[in-house]
Amino acid sequence: MSLAPLKNIRACVFDAYGTLFDFSSAAKGCKDVLGEKTEPLTALWRDKQLQYTWLLAAQGRHADFHRVTGDALDFALETLGIASPGLHARLMGLYLALHAFPEVPEVLRRLKAAGLRLAILSNGTPAMLDAAVHGAGLGGLFDAVLSVEEVGVFKPNPKVYQLAVERLRLPASALSFQSSNAWDAHAASAFGMRVVWCNRYGQRPERLPGKPDCEVTSLSSLPELVASP
Ligand code: LAC
Repeated sequence: MSLAPLKNIRACVFDAYGTLFDFSSAAKGCKDVLGEKTEPLTALWRDKQLQYTWLLAAQGRHADFHRVTGDALDFALETLGIASPGLHARLMGLYLALHAFPEVPEVLRRLKAAGLRLAILSNGTPAMLDAAVHGAGLGGLFDAVLSVEEVGVFKPNPKVYQLAVERLRLPASALSFQSSNAWDAHAASAFGMRVVWCNRYGQRPERLPGKPDCEVTSLSSLPELVASP
């Protein structure tokens, strides 16, 4: 995998959860109750949330990401033997106010200043994404905040990646897609986007169709990778 700059990129499209927004900040905000179960809860909640999106899509069914996130949380709390009054509501509230990763605001501002269009393409509902963007002080930076709710199926269905092409009115090859999820990065690449895999979690490459163009561990170097003349 090379770190050579990507040419002819016109827009940067970002996955939301785990890429721009740190989903671990929800459970960390309840460390007073969760204690040593904070990290196991974060991991199981996220794994189950993603599994439910894939399983629903495989069944040709859909439930919105807020519902899926709440169901995955209930599964994770029960599995880990955590029961505390009001905890579910508190965690779900914090999920609407996740912290952006530290480099994100400055990177987005640099990309925008370089003339690139910016978008989010996420499983999140429009309300969840609106809350995350504004809660993190990123309002006004994005040209489009695109939710899978517009196509009624979760990633990695190609209809989701097609939504970005249609709404930005650019060919897939002019879009740089950033995701921390290896499966999402591979799927966007297989669709035809250029892909920067932001491997924050030290994942192994997937044995799936597609191949990310670049692998980085944070978004800090993105302006150099995509804004070259
Ligand atoms: C999203 C999840 C997959 O934002 O992270 O779409």
